Amino acid sequence: MANIGIISAVMNKGDLIISDELNHASIIDACSLSRAGVKVYPHRDVSCIEKILRASKHPKKLIITDGIFSMDGDIAPLPEIVELGERYDAMVMVDDAHATGVLGQHCTGTADYFNVDVDINMGTLSKALASTGGYVAGSDELIDYLRNRARSFIFTTALSPPSVAAAKAAIDIIEKEKPAKKLWQNVALYKKGLTDIGITINSETQIIPVMTGDAKTTMEAAAELERLGIFAQGIRPPTVPEGRGRIRTSLMATHSEQDINDSLDAIRIIKEKFDI
Ligand SMILES: Cc1ncc(COP(=O)(O)O)c(C=O)c1O
Repeated sequence: MANIGIISAVMNKGDLIISDELNHASIIDACSLSRAGVKVYPHRDVSCIEKILRASKHPKKLIITDGIFSMDGDIAPLPEIVELGERYDAMVMVDDAHATGVLGQHCTGTADYFNVDVDINMGTLSKALASTGGYVAGSDELIDYLRNRARSFIFTTALSPPSVAAAKAAIDIIEKEKPAKKLWQNVALYKKGLTDIGITINSETQIIPVMTGDAKTTMEAAAELERLGIFAQGIRPPTVPEGRGRIRTSLMATHSEQDINDSLDAIRIIKEKFDI
């Protein structure tokens, strides 16, 4: 709803949105609803973004990307994107659903991590903040405009007080107790364990997919993991392309070393059983 509200308020018919091919479904839907033209670039392909920008005669342009990609755990090349935005007079928007509370010196997300500024910083309260809802951060002018123009914000009931209170409490914990430090230690331990088992890792973050291939193998392997006491969602088409099924494991700061070792033991078993 946040993406729909923001994107369809800022972009209109005749404008151009430039969007990563692996951006989240809510961005894709929001782009369609805005009625702006949309060009999709291959995943993290900055040279393609530049080609599109160079050829564009549109009055208003927006480059939009996930900060941390939700199914792969890799990070958008934001410094290059921001530089292109400045050079070609395009706005930059980041969906930090998975980076809020996790990335950067202040744990505020991808722009914080790379120490760059973006025009529109959107995120959810539903991941690290353990609540529901979304937010947008940007200039006073942008926020004022969205308060008056974002239809999915204006024409629906506001977030419930418990959701807001839960998110605020989570932000307090993130600022005061700095759980991200433990999260990154857990990520390092888990990735080392996976590599030792022989699992290939392309993730840079706490979302770490274990590639399983076809949909049947993926769902059977996820069910076997659950039998072994580990819950990790099996991801198959249409969420990911055909043949690119995976078990999407993700870590929390509150996982113990025992939890991580138990998960690695279970993954070793499914790796052998399903030959993944
Ligand atoms: C990148 C991204 N944006 C937006 C969302 C939507 O968040 P929510 O589940 O809070 O609606 C998700 C979550 O699934 C996501 O991964």
